[in-house]
Order: sequence, then structure tokens, then C-alpha cells
Amino acid sequence: MERIRFLLILLCLFLALSIPTAVDAAKARILIYSATRDFRHDSIPTAIEALKARQDSINAQFDNTEDQTQFTDDVLSNYDTILFLSTTGEVLDSAGKDAFQKYLDLGGTFVGIHSASDTLRNTTFYTDELGSLFDYHPALQNFTVDVLDTTHPSTSMLPVIWGVQDEAYNFKSDPRTLGATVILAANESSYIDAGVRHDQGTPHPLAWFQEKGAGVETGGLGHLNETWQDDLFLSHVLGGISWVLLGNTTRAFNTSGLVGNAQSEATQSGNAPSKASNSTSTSATAGSANSQMTIHS
Ligand SMILES: *[C@@H]1O[C@H](CO)[C@@H](O)[C@H](O)[C@H]1NC(C)=O
Ligand SMILES: *[C@@H]1O[C@H](CO)[C@@H](O)[C@H](O)[C@H]1NC(C)=O
Ligand SMILES: *[C@@H]1O[C@H](CO)[C@@H](O)[C@H](O)[C@H]1NC(C)=O
Ligand SMILES: *[C@@H]1O[C@H](CO)[C@@H](O)[C@H](O)[C@H]1NC(C)=O
Ligand SMILES: *[C@@H]1O[C@H](CO)[C@@H](O)[C@H](O)[C@H]1NC(C)=O
Ligand SMILES: *[C@@H]1O[C@H](CO)[C@@H](O)[C@H](O)[C@H]1NC(C)=O
Repeated sequence: MERIRFLLILLCLFLALSIPTAVDAAKARILIYSATRDFRHDSIPTAIEALKARQDSINAQFDNTEDQTQFTDDVLSNYDTILFLSTTGEVLDSAGKDAFQKYLDLGGTFVGIHSASDTLRNTTFYTDELGSLFDYHPALQNFTVDVLDTTHPSTSMLPVIWGVQDEAYNFKSDPRTLGATVILAANESSYIDAGVRHDQGTPHPLAWFQEKGAGVETGGLGHLNETWQDDLFLSHVLGGISWVLLGNTTRAFNTSGLVGNAQSEATQSGNAPSKASNSTSTSATAGSANSQMTIHS
């Protein structure tokens, strides 16, 4: 009897110790929002399809919607990241804006791509999250992008001088004034733009991140279908999303997270101690609990 009890205790101990290491990393849930009230990019379906086809590569699940009534506390709290994909104009009503702001305040993360920077232009919390608003772009043409940070998860796969065919976005202001780190810059000598630009700082920002709020990455490239069929570009975007998620403010990555994939929280609780110690040691490089990244082109 004693012996059986002892063996049972041993078995329980063994199970308790082995379960955490056997659990897969949590699956992040990402909501793609692609509503448009002004210009509509015809590359939106191509982009959604491409991201969904690669979701396993970052251990994530993408859902997509254009329905602003989905912006409620209940719905948003299930997501580790909200990704604005080529949105334009007033895509949220005031209830939706309130829910989105609350989500960000609770540690939710944000990624903005292409005309995400031409969205909710009068909404201060959103424009602060972006870092800068779109101004205008010259004609679509080929140009080169200088990779300023070659080690970031969203840029490490890129050639140092990256040839793209896209719109070289100009912004209303320099995102660096809000504390953003610019990681991609447009080489202004490599294309024609006769327009009058605002002061957006030097070098010309195209992609950046901010370590404030929760995780945010915004990017301007991504106009054409062809771009969304380009593996290099997609690796850049997916790397940026991964970086934002690794701010570890949401449930898929942090058992104390207030928003994010709750199912992950449940399955992952055995991992809590190691996660927590990892996060403190790397917060300086990965951008702490409060990181934002914006990529524009
Ligand atoms: C881009 O792809 C969409 C289908 O996803 C198609 O409707 C559209 O015509 C394409 N655009 C161009 C310029 O080929
Ligand atoms: C945003 O503000 C500008 C300038 O105050 C105003 O002209 C414009 O109508 C506003 N747009 C929206 C959608 O509120
Ligand atoms: C622009 O780049 C695309 C692919 O990136 C290429 O197919 C095309 O030939 C280039 N156009 C010019 C004018 O160099
Ligand atoms: C910028 O583009 C010009 C023209 O293509 C080229 O001569 C120059 O080397 C480029 N500079 C950088 C830093 O990429
Ligand atoms: C985990 O999430 C909580 C709540 O958002 C936050 O206070 C904490 O800093 C996060 N931990 C890490 C390591 O980021
Ligand atoms: C978040 O957690 C992962 C895995 O434990 C770790 O690699 C990463 O550095 C952490 N990030 C931060 C900002 O602490």
C-alpha cells in the first residue's frame, strides 16, 4: 500500500515536471482589419491569402474582418495583435475607437501596413500609435530601400540595399520625434518625386517601430499584388509581426496578459516561470512590454 502510494506520487511528480516542456509554444491570434472608406487597394485579398498561407511559420492564426462592429472589448480581447492592412479613412466609429484604445491600453499590440497610415487621421491615440501619418506618394516605381537595422527580426532577411517596386510614401512628420526607431529608409536618389515634402527627417522613413504602448509595427510597403506574392516582402512583414508579439504583453506569450489568446493561457500555464524570466532579461533588445513598430513604404 505504502509502496503503491509512493509510486503514484512519483508518477504525479513525473507528469507535473514533464507537461510544461511538452506543451507547444502558444498560438498567437491576429485580427486583420482591412476596411476602407477612401481608396481601396485591390491587393487586399492577395495580402490576406498570403498571410494566412504562412500563419504556421510564426505559430499564429489570422482571422480577418471589415466589420467595424467587431471592435468590442469582448472580441478584441481574444487577439494578440490587431493588424490594419491597407485600411483608409474613418474605418471605426467612436465605440470601435474606444474598444481599440482600451485594447491597446491593456497590452494589446498593433501592426499597420501600407495605408494604415492614411486611416483615422484625426484620432490622436491611433496616430500616436502609428508614429506619423501618410502625406502623399510619388508614382509607383522602382527604387531602393536602405536597411538601417540589419539585425531586427523584420529586416534581418533583407539585402542591405533592397530593390522594390512600390510607392515611396512621404509622411507628415518624422516618426523619430515620437521616439520611433526607423529601420528602413527610402533612398531618395533612386526615384523621382517632384512633390513638396513635409519634414519627415533623414534618412527618409519607410518602416519603424516604437517602444511605447503595447507592441506596434507599421509599414508602408505593400501596394501591389506582386509585392504580396514576394517571399522576401512577406518574410519582412511576418518578422515584424513576430517582433511585436514578443513584446510579451499578451496572453499567448504572458500568462499575466490581460488580452490575447486565452486558450494559450490555459494550456501554457506550466511555462509561466521560464517565460517571465526570459522576458526580463531581453526587454532591452526586443522592446519591453511596450513596443511599437511601424513599417511604411
Ligand atoms: C490583384 O488581385 C486581385 C485578386 O486578388 C484582382 O482582383 C486584381 O485585379 C489584381 N490587381 C491587378 C492590378 O492585377
Ligand atoms: C479631420 O480634421 C480636419 C481638420 O480639422 C477636418 O477638415 C476633417 O473633416 C476631419 N475629418 C474627420 C473624418 O473627422
Ligand atoms: C521594376 O522591378 C520589377 C520587379 O521588382 C521588375 O520586374 C521591373 O522590370 C523593374 N522595372 C524597371 C523599369 O526597372
Ligand atoms: C542611392 O541611390 C543612388 C542612385 O541609384 C546610388 O547611387 C546610391 O549609391 C544609393 N545610396 C545608398 C546609400 O543606397
Ligand atoms: C505580462 O503582462 C502583464 C499585464 O499586461 C504586464 O504587466 C507584464 O509586464 C507582462 N510581463 C512581461 C514580461 O512583459
Ligand atoms: C518574450 O519571451 C520570449 C520567449 O520566452 C523571449 O525570447 C523574448 O525575449 C521575450 N521578449 C521580451 C521583450 O522580454
